[in-house]
Amino acid sequence: MSKLIEKLLSLDGHVCPWWLAWTFDNPLRKWFQDPERILGSLVREGMTVADIGCGMGYFSVAMARMVGPAGRVLSVDLQEKMLKYLEKRAVRAGVQDRITTTLGEPDDITITDSKVDFMLAFWMVHEVKDIPRFFGQAAKALKPNGSMLCVEPRMHVSPRRFEEILGYGKSAGFVVRDGPKVGMSRSAVLERAQP
Ligand SMILES: C[S@@+](CC[C@H](N)C(=O)[O-])C[C@H]1O[C@@H](n2cnc3c(N)ncnc32)[C@H](O)[C@@H]1O
Repeated sequence: MSKLIEKLLSLDGHVCPWWLAWTFDNPLRKWFQDPERILGSLVREGMTVADIGCGMGYFSVAMARMVGPAGRVLSVDLQEKMLKYLEKRAVRAGVQDRITTTLGEPDDITITDSKVDFMLAFWMVHEVKDIPRFFGQAAKALKPNGSMLCVEPRMHVSPRRFEEILGYGKSAGFVVRDGPKVGMSRSAVLERAQP
């Protein structure tokens, strides 16, 4: 199955097409990627969180529940179809008031001023063309004590490539520590270094 997904991904250049997202974003996903277990120590009530490359919103909706009515989720993706699906999903879950969707650009995460407590980049950094720029923008978007969880798919990102990716994070001023265990993935938490 993972070989098939890998092959299909390469058909559409760099970015996971909306129709392929169904292969991993389906009811079985919670078995190997449970949002509450993965994000439980990182996301708290009242936080403003960002989900960059949110896709169809599997994690955005889960985070909207975790931040509660006083919290906010900023969901950004390059593909309008992903955002439309996310919006429907949020309505079904009753958390639409906590989620703002924004159509991003390949080189612009669209969040500019240190307003985010936590940022998620799940299975998306390997799709970003200018990764140093991405981490630079992420560091600016986070509050001084903010942190980011970077999760990459094992089938696409070798241990060496993951270290390279984290190296770009370090160059942008992040301190890197081990992330939670995530099925089929490599993960790290990047903390914004104190100014
Ligand atoms: C493999 S999907 C993962 C979606 C979601 N994070 C999840 O785990 O369900 C990667 C997503 O990242 C988006 N993406 C890729 N590069 C991006 C960028 N530079 N800015 C925003 N979104 C991006 C793609 O459009 C796609 O929806």
